[in-house]
Amino acid sequence: MKTVLVTGANGQLGRCLQDYVNENPHPEFQFLFMDRARLDVSKKEIVETFFFSNQIDFCINCAAYTAVDQAESDAENAFKANADAVKHLAEECNEQNAILIHISTDYVFDGESSEPYLPDDSTNPINVYGKSKLEGERWALEKNLKTIVIRTSWVYSQYGKNFYTTMMRLMAEREELNVVSDQIGKPTDANDLAAYIHQLILSNDEDYGIRHFSGPEQMSWYEFAQKIARENGFKTKINPIPTSEYPTPAKRPMWSVLG
Ligand SMILES: NC(=O)c1ccc[n+]([C@@H]2O[C@H](COP(=O)([O-])OP(=O)(O)OC[C@H]3O[C@@H](n4cnc5c(N)ncnc54)[C@H](OP(=O)(O)O)[C@@H]3O)[C@@H](O)[C@H]2O)c1
Repeated sequence: MKTVLVTGANGQLGRCLQDYVNENPHPEFQFLFMDRARLDVSKKEIVETFFFSNQIDFCINCAAYTAVDQAESDAENAFKANADAVKHLAEECNEQNAILIHISTDYVFDGESSEPYLPDDSTNPINVYGKSKLEGERWALEKNLKTIVIRTSWVYSQYGKNFYTTMMRLMAEREELNVVSDQIGKPTDANDLAAYIHQLILSNDEDYGIRHFSGPEQMSWYEFAQKIARENGFKTKINPIPTSEYPTPAKRPMWSVLG
């Protein structure tokens, strides 16, 4: 029997993983889904105590500080959750010879390219969130050789607050919406990512290092909003606007296409 720890289990990816595991039970794997209240990964002693009491074979780190705009004025907490915590987890995984599957982001890139980003391309994050996630990747790879970093992008699901759930709510309330049309990326369904991670564990994939996983289609937020409207029968008028008309505390990469 292999034991799989899932951190940040109450986030959108964590919840999609719980659904997937419940729908696809496997007799040789037991999953420990730990939310922040039960396992705060930014607290080193708590992580140490957890690993002392549990023999872990895989750790899927879905815990993260994901409030991209808030991170600009709260860098300390962003780095605690996205970098320091990953160091603690990777050190413990190394002690236990466990495989660490760490989730990272397209925001480690600056978005100045016009070609899909490949795992070995140079990073250059342009906001605090991206910087903290890049530091997390480095700790994960440095402290535990058996680490797989999965960078993903524009994650959405039926859970929590994300572009999809926000659009669904706004489209039900409003007749007209303005949506940014000059940022391009690949929306990724968290349910697909959960299935991919599950398969990775079952197949005992030992191709350690960085890899990219994102949805199949490249589009702007505006096109994504149009797709959501179309697929859900909303008649909302959607107007394309440039990023300059939707200022946010954190700068976003204009090109977030992972290849
Ligand atoms: N969402 C995206 O568009 C996107 C894009 C690219 C990459 N990613 C990456 O994908 C992964 C999953 O993201 P997601 O969309 O599922 O994010 P999410 O819905 O915000 O979930 C993150 C979870 O981590 C928890 N958490 C935060 N700090 C923690 C701590 N110190 N200890 C334990 N748990 C903690 C959060 O709990 P609280 O709710 O209590 O804070 C939340 O439940 C993350 O690594 C993220 O960086 C996301």
